[in-house]
Amino acid sequence: TVYENAHIASLRVAARITNLIKRKQDRGEKAVLGLATGATPVQVYEELVRRHKEEGLSFSNVITFNLDEYYPMDPSSRQSYVTFMNENLFDHIDIKRENIHIPDGTLPKEEIAAYCIAYENMIEALGGLDLQILGIGRTGHIGFNEPGSAPNSGTRLVTLDDLTRRDASRDFGGKENVPTKAITMGIGTIFKAREIILMAWNRKKASIIKKAVEGEISGEVPATYLQLSENTEFVLDEDAAAEL
Ligand code: GLP
Repeated sequence: TVYENAHIASLRVAARITNLIKRKQDRGEKAVLGLATGATPVQVYEELVRRHKEEGLSFSNVITFNLDEYYPMDPSSRQSYVTFMNENLFDHIDIKRENIHIPDGTLPKEEIAAYCIAYENMIEALGGLDLQILGIGRTGHIGFNEPGSAPNSGTRLVTLDDLTRRDASRDFGGKENVPTKAITMGIGTIFKAREIILMAWNRKKASIIKKAVEGEISGEVPATYLQLSENTEFVLDEDAAAEL
């Protein structure tokens, strides 16, 4: 779906998330959301915060799993995805802290594999993700599933692509300060969500969106795997859709 601009598109996505939360509330159920970081979802989170403050939307029945975190990463650091999520969403809504899950960037290496299995199991135990929202990196990554990721991959430690680290260099004051690794949900983890929304805005995403939507399905552009999914919607602004 192509919207005139990112703001209008973000309001639509926030409305869908709101409807899901309310539908679940009415049934006395939890809403299990997969969340993303980056500039792309910021306006969605802003609108959710506004709906909480002005319209009384409650997140008390919401459980969240974030896609990824840099590794290693101190959660209190300015660049952590924990800080990002707190500043952009969690600090401003009534979600219970114990319902928030973000991959732990502080684990000793030898504990990561078991931790990743436990992350997957927690999602499964809740009945799976109701909705996963995604951005897209210029390498075609979703979460931090870089080129070469397998379609059935699970949550794991990955090595970041050079272009991804270059794109993150502004946040870290130079590429050399960007961690070389991350913990990310896998393509397989994302695929199990009942609904997936991939958002992209701006002209600089137009060429990767063309590849993701129209290109040959291949691990070289991990987002192309979404072409195989029946429940994925690409939500774009006109600039990101410009090459389609
Ligand atoms: C990071 C995140 C991705 C995100 C991507 C795009 O790599 N791990 O989940 O989709 O950045 O970021 P932005 O939305 O800032 O363009």
